[in-house]
Amino acid sequence: MNAVLGNQTAVAMPYVLEMKGMSKRFPGVVALDNVTLRLRPGKVHALMGENGAGKSTLMKCLFGIYHPEEGEVLFNGTPRRFQNPKEALDARVSMIHQELANVPERSVQSNLWLGREPMRRIGPLRVLDHRKMHDDTAALMQRLDMDIEPEARIGSLSISHQQACEIAKAVACDASVVVMDEPTSSITEKETEHLFRVIRSLTERGVAVVYISHKMHEIFQIADEVSVMRDGKLVGTYDAHAIDEAQLVNLMVGRASDQRFPPLDSTPGAVRLRVQGLSSPAPRSFQDVSLELRRGEILGLGGLIGAQRTEFVEALFGLRAVSKGTVELDGEQVSIRSSRDAIQYRMGLVTEDRRASGIFPQLSITQNTVIPSLGQYINRLRMVRHGDVDRDAERLNRQLRTKTASMQTAIGSLSGGNQQKVLIARWLMTEPDILIMDEPTRGIDVGAKFEIYSIMVELARQGKSIIMVSSEMPELIAMSHRIMVLCEGRHTGTLPRTDATQFDIMRLATQYL
Ligand SMILES: Nc1ncnc2c1ncn2[C@@H]1O[C@H](COP(=O)(O)OP(=O)(O)OP(=O)(O)O)[C@@H](O)[C@H]1O
Ligand SMILES: [Mg+2]
Repeated sequence: MNAVLGNQTAVAMPYVLEMKGMSKRFPGVVALDNVTLRLRPGKVHALMGENGAGKSTLMKCLFGIYHPEEGEVLFNGTPRRFQNPKEALDARVSMIHQELANVPERSVQSNLWLGREPMRRIGPLRVLDHRKMHDDTAALMQRLDMDIEPEARIGSLSISHQQACEIAKAVACDASVVVMDEPTSSITEKETEHLFRVIRSLTERGVAVVYISHKMHEIFQIADEVSVMRDGKLVGTYDAHAIDEAQLVNLMVGRASDQRFPPLDSTPGAVRLRVQGLSSPAPRSFQDVSLELRRGEILGLGGLIGAQRTEFVEALFGLRAVSKGTVELDGEQVSIRSSRDAIQYRMGLVTEDRRASGIFPQLSITQNTVIPSLGQYINRLRMVRHGDVDRDAERLNRQLRTKTASMQTAIGSLSGGNQQKVLIARWLMTEPDILIMDEPTRGIDVGAKFEIYSIMVELARQGKSIIMVSSEMPELIAMSHRIMVLCEGRHTGTLPRTDATQFDIMRLATQYL
């Protein structure tokens, strides 16, 4: 069926899907204002814009998750309005969500065929056809070159594998339109290349792909057309081959931006943190990792996904058990067994997976910001100094340019990138001496990235120490004084930034592979 769409229909009918004049309001925000987007079969249409511009909202309106107040959707020329995601899927429109939407307790296969399970007959009964489900899943994984067990529990997989499952799910329903909302936010460059091969095989079969990403180089690699949104409006749709990065940034933020990184000009001082031979009780996790972190230093922690960087920093922060090794703060050995200990030692951790370990979706931005530092705001009568809480939470979120109608808004209703900013504000509010940031700019737009880097530089100038886990090579190189690399849980080397190249980092990151 896809072939028909791709070859013949494409000539007679240029668009597989048209969204016309879409408008959607939330209390206090116009999320979409008269947006029109047209998709061609067999093409990759990139959707770009700052955090909160309305990209996810537009796609959720298409998918029946949100219901727009105005607008019309034409699917193959016929007006359609999907009431819920199931109707969209039945019409072969699928979406990979920005926040992973899998059911963690389920197996890969049951998640993949959720609501569309293969059945077989036993006499008068119709029962689930386990064998077919397993075999179809295995075959799909093989076709997509993904090394994932059909029986594995989703929750036990790494984020990147979970994301791969989402992609497989979209392919499994034989979609004619696939929406990918920041599909590469949790996967490595190598996995991204793999995803791009999958995308190309989809477009060759006539599938229209909507690709949302903040990663500029990806857009130029994969997109045919780019639409830019700003403040809920469509700025325009452009031929991806006829526009350059500077023009694109200009369209997104409404001003020219020639600088991606602020200069890192502080000089590290005395050693603040010394870790020696830290090992996890799990043999395949981090083993024998040592490091030194100085005052005013930003230490980059590079490596591939699966290098155990997150596990290592979580252990440092008291969230995971360690079997061996010592941690010294200012020359004194300390034992950090819980995040409460870590906070007492003036450490902060911005986590990588904001949905699982970061946010309280029902609580307000202010509440989400203040949680770990609430103790600092209790007065002698044991009452919370709400005025100070509000003022400080607001100041930090303003500094990070968190886009929201009010500080009382539930964090769950913010755009993905803006939730991330609140999490950063949260740890800045604790005024930590050591701030650990795990993929701090994931899902953050270009303008706001610069703000976050500037804050990091300022903290370093004030003598604070930062450990930054990052999979973005340019970010590691530009924003760290030294870059330490892990590979499969082992420390394979540390590079001074002056002579670190992407190649050197890659070499250390793949040493054991
Ligand atoms: N359920 C909701 N309730 C209230 N406001 C919402 C809701 N969903 C989105 N919004 C608001 O709509 C606006 C657009 O958000 P959207 O998630 O579409 O942004 P985005 O372009 O996808 O940003 P990002 O790059 O950060 O993912 C934001 O101001 C957001 O706070
Ligand atoms: Mg979004």
